[in-house]
Amino acid sequence: MTIELNEELSQAVEQRRNFAIISHPDAGKTTLTEKLLLYGGAIHEAGAVKARRDQRKVTSDWMAMEQQRGISITSTVLQFVYHSCQINLLDTPGHQDFSEDTYRTLAAADNAVMLIDAAKGLEPQTRKLFEVCKLRGIPIFTFVNKLDRPGREPLELLDEIEQELGLQTYAVNWPIGMGDRFKGVFDRNHNQIHLFERSAHGSKEARSTMVNLGDAKIQELLDQDLYHQLKDELELLEGAGEKLDLDLVHQGKMTPVFFGSAMTNFGVELFLKCFLEYALKPGDHQSSAGKIAPTYPEFTGFVFKLQANMDPKHRDRVAFVRVCTGKFEKDMTVNHARTGKAVRLSRPQKLFAQERESIDVAYPGDVIGLNNPGVFAIGDTIYTGQKLEYEGIPYFSPELFATLRNPNPSKFKQFQKGVSELREEGAVQIMYSTDEAKRDPILAAVGQLQFEVVQFRLQNEYGVETILDLLPYTVARWVDGGWDALNKVGRLFNTITVKDSMGRPVLLFRNEWNCQQLQGDHPELKLSSIAPVFS
Ligand code: G4P
Repeated sequence: MTIELNEELSQAVEQRRNFAIISHPDAGKTTLTEKLLLYGGAIHEAGAVKARRDQRKVTSDWMAMEQQRGISITSTVLQFVYHSCQINLLDTPGHQDFSEDTYRTLAAADNAVMLIDAAKGLEPQTRKLFEVCKLRGIPIFTFVNKLDRPGREPLELLDEIEQELGLQTYAVNWPIGMGDRFKGVFDRNHNQIHLFERSAHGSKEARSTMVNLGDAKIQELLDQDLYHQLKDELELLEGAGEKLDLDLVHQGKMTPVFFGSAMTNFGVELFLKCFLEYALKPGDHQSSAGKIAPTYPEFTGFVFKLQANMDPKHRDRVAFVRVCTGKFEKDMTVNHARTGKAVRLSRPQKLFAQERESIDVAYPGDVIGLNNPGVFAIGDTIYTGQKLEYEGIPYFSPELFATLRNPNPSKFKQFQKGVSELREEGAVQIMYSTDEAKRDPILAAVGQLQFEVVQFRLQNEYGVETILDLLPYTVARWVDGGWDALNKVGRLFNTITVKDSMGRPVLLFRNEWNCQQLQGDHPELKLSSIAPVFS
């Protein structure tokens, strides 16, 4: 390797931070994203992201369905620079567009920010996304939001995270007051109080005054009762004796916690600064050739997400690639590990919301969008130099199931082709009944939107109208040891067995309770909610 390239890569890795936000709808993800962009100088007045989102609802026509539903199916990767750090924020689709893509995006993220509404605490979607982060062992940074409104006690929220997620917590800052009396935060690293001023709708950076904890000025600036409350709470925290342990943070066992309000910008910049200091830089990736460091000079990356028809003018498909090692350059030719073919990577794109910008180079930790004329599938590795393959992206436990029927026998071929291609693309999981007479595929998804996308695309791209019959299951479990293990246990109750697209047995349950009951009755059967897609 040339010394220049080595230096270039080392520097790029040193400067890069990549993360995704995990949260439940309405916790404030859009607002926080916007404020991070504001502090990063990527936008000058908050409101731009929201306005773009709302505008998209009106103007976007790339997919009629998107218009009908008024939601966004497209994904975004936001890049901005803050204090010479290159930050890549991978957007995780949420709300009604929650789908397997939301989970897959986490496979490309090096860090996660867990955003919690102070009044609500942990909510279902956050818990699910947390499970995926836990599986990968990535660092989780917690931002407790909406402190400007009455919420739950901060200590109670920390306790909930510890008890329910099994994560140690360390409060990096601590809120001063709450609701109307939310005045600022105390930075425990520097023993400093940050008192903020509210700006008009938080559209500009919040002005703040900083004082040391012991400073006499505090008497003038802060109500006595708030000051005493802060001191009492800090004593409690210190008494608990938790120390920030960055090794534990990096292993995903301890979460640094920040309190603030994205809307008023209180605590946002402090959070951003600490996050950049503590977050993991792009690191090693496990591959068929062992662990590969990001400064490995050959370019390698993996596809974590595919997107169809993003642009109405082109009706094209985009494969999102996480760059793992080396330097990506426009028009380079790479090898495709699964097919063994050489592919020229033309028209690479960087994505900022809906706008596309062509890119010339990309480094480890970056995400690039590649034109995908059906070449790439989820989990595919591309590389130059010696052959290697990354671990792949698992199937995540679906929660919605439906039989898909094609009522028109003359369309049999198109139906089969469409189902198979959409499965390969990762639009939906496909399962089959173990009864050979029942040939209709069972669609399995984590979000309702996936069904709609499949039906829409079958009709638009393959010319097949389909009928969807919802099935009454909400839980899927793969069986460790496959059919051999399953056949040993004999008859099972309150479940049905189906096959996934690789022929492996999957048990479907109506609810979690039935699943737990079966586990209780058959402890010898090891069930898993996540199955690897490629071995
Ligand atoms: P999401 O992307 O996670 O779904 O959340 P989003 O940012 O859209 O925020 C959901 C609602 O919560 C919005 O109110 C937003 O203004 C509000 N919000 C976000 N952060 C804060 C905060 O720190 N404090 C308070 N008080 N509210 C916050 P909305 O009424 O649904 O929308 P809008 O009319 O304000 O845009």
